[in-house]
Amino acid sequence: MREVDIKTELLNVIKDIKAYIKAEEEYGIGEILMPGAGAFETEKASLPSKSKILLSLKNEVLNCKACPLHKTRRNVVFGDGDPHAKLVFVGEAPGYDEDLQGLPFVGQAGKLLTKMIEAMGLSRDSVYICNVLKCRPPENRQPQPEEVVACKGYLLRQIEIISPKVICCLGRHASCALLETEDPISKIRGKEIDFKGIVLIPTFHPAYLLRNPSSKREVWEDLKRIKKLLSEE
Ligand code: URA
Ligand code: SF4
Repeated sequence: MREVDIKTELLNVIKDIKAYIKAEEEYGIGEILMPGAGAFETEKASLPSKSKILLSLKNEVLNCKACPLHKTRRNVVFGDGDPHAKLVFVGEAPGYDEDLQGLPFVGQAGKLLTKMIEAMGLSRDSVYICNVLKCRPPENRQPQPEEVVACKGYLLRQIEIISPKVICCLGRHASCALLETEDPISKIRGKEIDFKGIVLIPTFHPAYLLRNPSSKREVWEDLKRIKKLLSEE
């Protein structure tokens, strides 16, 4: 082979390698797959993690205009916490503070929820907290059935991605939305209900507890049972 042919050949090979590396980077794979060496790790690293899937769902919800609440919201409140949490709390809808900060349960009821979580010996960071509605209803009015219908798919996807061991529904709206029942919260509170293989326990909403502190005792019983379920294999 003439020297000039070898040079052209080498340049072509370099061009191919560059194109290969560029394609690998575009598909999010940070290393070149060498036969036999580290192939398994590369494959594993390219699988999207729970955090990544949850983040892409969040980006979808941040742009949602599926119900009229998008017109009055300041921020979408997607949810917050550990994507690998064994326990998910589901509330009703963002209030004033949540809408302002874009985070769930950061107002007065949220402070009580944080205390309840800490009383269980857990930290807020180790659980996941979200709501049925991701946007605030004006003047904190009750969620409308059509808003719940429009938004519920996001909650179902969050639960599917996180796939916790226990879901604690805070109040009537969360319990009724997930269980598709009209039963009053007083009737279903404290029951262990199967929800797609996950134990769902409805309890009173912390905002209700702020108005009715004597019901804290019942909620504490529910939280203790949840703690026991989490510690079981
Ligand atoms: N009440 C809820 O149901 N959710 C929140 O995020 C805050 C208050
Ligand atoms: Fe979309 Fe839910 Fe917000 Fe309605 S409440 S706009 S369905 S994210």
